[in-house]
Formats: sequence, C-alpha cells, structure tokens
Amino acid sequence: MEKKWWQEAVGYEIYCKSFCDSDGDGIGDLRGVTSKLPILKELGVTCIWFAPLYASPQADNGYDVADYEAIHPDYGTMEDFKELLDLAHSMGMRVIMDMVLNHSSDEHRWFQESRKSKDNPYRDYYIWRPAKADGSEPNNWGSYFGEGNGSAWQWDEVAGEYYLHQYGIKMPDLNWECKALREEIYGMLNRWLDFGIDGFRLDVITRLKKMPGLPDSLKKPIPPMDRNGFVVDRNMCTNVEGIHPILRELNERVFCREGCFTMGEGAGVTPFNAAEYILPERRELDSIYHFQLASRKGPRLTAEQFRTVQKNWAKVGESGGTYIQYLSNHDSQRQVSQHGSDLQWRTRSARLLGTLIHTTPGIPFIYQGEEIGMVNVRFDSIEDYNCCYTVGPYHAMLESGMDPATALAEVARTSRDNARTPYQWNAEKNAGFTTGKPWLKVNPRYEQINLEADLAAEDSVFRYYQSLTALRREHPAIVEGSLTFLSEDDPDVICYTRSCEKETLLVVANLSEREREWEIPHPIRGRCRCLLCNMEKKIGLTGEKLSLAPWECAVFAVE
Ligand code: NOJ
Repeated sequence: MEKKWWQEAVGYEIYCKSFCDSDGDGIGDLRGVTSKLPILKELGVTCIWFAPLYASPQADNGYDVADYEAIHPDYGTMEDFKELLDLAHSMGMRVIMDMVLNHSSDEHRWFQESRKSKDNPYRDYYIWRPAKADGSEPNNWGSYFGEGNGSAWQWDEVAGEYYLHQYGIKMPDLNWECKALREEIYGMLNRWLDFGIDGFRLDVITRLKKMPGLPDSLKKPIPPMDRNGFVVDRNMCTNVEGIHPILRELNERVFCREGCFTMGEGAGVTPFNAAEYILPERRELDSIYHFQLASRKGPRLTAEQFRTVQKNWAKVGESGGTYIQYLSNHDSQRQVSQHGSDLQWRTRSARLLGTLIHTTPGIPFIYQGEEIGMVNVRFDSIEDYNCCYTVGPYHAMLESGMDPATALAEVARTSRDNARTPYQWNAEKNAGFTTGKPWLKVNPRYEQINLEADLAAEDSVFRYYQSLTALRREHPAIVEGSLTFLSEDDPDVICYTRSCEKETLLVVANLSEREREWEIPHPIRGRCRCLLCNMEKKIGLTGEKLSLAPWECAVFAVE
C-alpha cells in the first residue's frame, strides 16, 4: 500500500496560550509561534498539532468553542494563522487543528438559538430534557469537571429544560443524532481543509454517541468527586454502540479527502477495540492515541507495564492500524517528573523517555517543553492554579472535610497546569515567554531549565531529541520494523529490537536509579554498533554483559 505522509511524521503539540507571546499581553499568540517555527524545524518536527485556537470564552482554555471558524482574538487573526500555515508548509511542516466535536461553548450562536424555544431550528443541536416530576435532573450522570452540584445536567431558565454537559457547565454536549448539526459540522470541517490545513486532532471523539434512552448509571457514587448521588460513569457516553456509523459518515463526508490526517483522542480505546476505529478498511480514523502509558494520575511507568502495553499495541500495528506514541500532552503531568527523575537525573531520564517514544512503532508526538526537559510545578496557593480539573476537585475535597494543605498537595501533583506553565525560552524575566504578566505563573526552575541553557549544555535534551528525529529519517526499521522484546522478566531494563528487511536495531534502557548489568543475548554478542546513547557512546557490545548507569539507554545497529 502506498505510504501516507503522516506515517513517517514527527509530531509536536503546541499549546498556543503558553508558547510564545509576541505582543506583551501575557498570553501566547500565533505571531509568537511563527517566530519560533525555525527551532521546531531544527528539532525535526514535521507535523504541528495546535490545541484549540478558536474564539472561546476560555472556560476550558479553548476546548469550549464559541466560533469554530474564527481565531481567538488573544491569539491573533485569521491572517496571522494563514501566514503561519504558509510558512510552516514552505518549511516542510504540516499543521493539524484540534477539533472539538463533542461539545461547544454555551456562548456559541447555536446554543444561544437552541435555548430560545422548542421549535427553534437549532433546538436539536443540543441534548435537552425536561426535569423529573420533582424538578430534579433527568438522570444520575455526573460531569467530569464536577462543577456545581456534580451533575452532568444544567437547568436553563431560558429553555425551561436541562441540557447535558459531560464536561464543564459552559460546555454543552452537541447532539450527533441531529442531521442538521452533522451537516453544519461537515461544512465547517471542509472549509478548514479548503483553507489549507492538513487534518484534525479529534477531541474526545469516542464520546459523541450517548447511551440510547440516557438511562441512569448503575454504578455506586465514589466521593469526593461523585457528589450528591451523581456518578461519573464513562460507559454511559464512551465507545457506545453506534459511534462507528458516526465516524464513517464523518470520513465519507470529510476525512477521506486527499492528504487529510486524523488523530482521535481515544478515551476508552484499548488494543482490543482499537481496530474498529483505525483499520484502514474501516474508513473511520487514521490513528488514535490511547491512555495506557500516559495517564495523568497513574504511577511511574514500569518496565513491565511498558512491555505489556507496547506488545499489545504492536499487534494492532501488525494488522494495519496506526497509533500515537507519547508520554505527555496539555492534559498530563510533565513526563520527566511523572516517569523520570526531575532532580538528580533530569536530563538523562528525559532523554531516555524520549528514546522509548521515538523508537517504538507508531507516530511520536512531542509536547512543547518536553524537548528541554521541563518539569512539574508546585504553586503555594490554589489561587495560582487555572485548570478546572484542579480547582473543582480541590473544592470538592474541602467540602468533604479535607484540610486545605492536604487537598492542595493532592491536586497539585496531577494538575494539568504542570504541563501548561509558559515555555521556558531563556533565563530572562518570565523565562522569555512574555514581557507582560504571564496568564499562568512561570515555573520557578526556569533559570536553570530553559532552551538557551539546554542548547549550551553538554547533556542537552534538545540536541538528543534532534538525534532521535534524525534516527527516524535515516533508519527504516524505526518506522516500519517489527517489535520484539528481549529479557522480558527484567524489572528495570527494557530491551527490544526493531527489524525490517533492511536492518535490525536494538534499544536497551535502564528505567531505574540503580546501576544494572544486562546480559547480552548470544546471537547479538559482538554484532552491535552504537548509534545513540544518552550518556557517553557505548562503542560495541563485545563482552557478555553491558553495564548500565542509572537511567542510561542506548540504540544499536545489529550488524
Ligand atoms: C480533552 C482535552 O484534551 C482536554 O484538555 C479537555 O478539557 C477535554 N477533552 C474536554 O474538551
């Protein structure tokens, strides 16, 4: 089958609000991004994913869209976006837009119309239900953001009914059963492709279809997040039967267009149901990213977990499906803090984690700042946090009787703001992100951790990532090779080969703070030439054992 451009891509997610501010208002913008395209090119990026850039009241930093066809004024204008797009294309980089199709903002014109009356032509664009006889919510579903009384239903005075919102109160769910809504969305998506973008990252795409009849969840509420008897039950709206016809129609009407790449956010997608979404013959999505490695609240990644997840997904790959490799994005913690060692072995573990992502099958996505080893932040006051997943749970914990210091510690570790603090360009004021007051405080460690310092350092994470992206360009086994794990019982050392007709590569990584010896399997003894190492280069694997320092990793060509 002919290769698609995205199969060899190196992705990079930009959270515009925190990337680079060109006009001093404290908020990152498109001109700021345009000024930094050369550095992304140098890194080896070939596909940029923009978190939502659309006009929005910013209740969830843009995932609450008020107009899908306008750029948010803080970020610039449509002309600024066009300039950025053209420049990116001329430099050989594609651009995909985040598309939020599960919900809009309550300030969207559709919603404003919809609430007006039952016979308004937009009424069915959203999910309205009358109150129960006692005035209570239509069912017991809870919302992910846990605002208000915890329900996923909000009473609307104007409409005289409740509307469904899986996320924030200001983010009403769109009704995909409504044909007029679907037509409206297809038109909008096609206009974006006509504009010249290269595809879409599809926000919570597995949640468009709701359980028919909207029945009560039978799960027991688990406080403090489930409050007042409401239950956050993913099964009510995730991967519900009937999601696939929706995706097939989207594909038929939009995604099938030449060159268009789609990457779905795969909440609830596992290797066991992924094929239905991404096998090419299904004509639904080109790729999916899953949560089995990068879960915001999860513990540190272990060698065993890594092997299991990669092995299961590799089977999906062998049957023709494409998936994304990543360890962090705008919803997660900083990967070096969650899975590596953000003090003693910061750069070394940052380089190791990058190696795992860039040498396993799939499309690697880098999240801004990862390439310089940016770390989690800890603010002293809840006032300094912005993320709704942080502030909401904090208040729920206080309500349940927890003391403020414990509640703050609890939410700070997993806060999405860890990933959202401004990009650290240099050691100047505000890390060179803005000349104004940043919308979210800069991580105080910016004086040591910033791009300028990183580029000048011997153990530069950025330079190492450049080598990783070069490896992908130069070695076909990285893109198309099969994956085989060796030493499968080792608690710390991950070891695998990638093999295609032309070559075999070997990756060895010590995922621990201990020095480790790794026994070199007989068939490859004396045959390995080091291509890349996150410490000093290992010359060749001649003896019986390879000794690995804490967090050391290396990539070899097996000759
Ligand atoms: C997933 C997005 O990545 C996240 O940032 C957002 O809050 C939710 N979807 C709701 O749109």
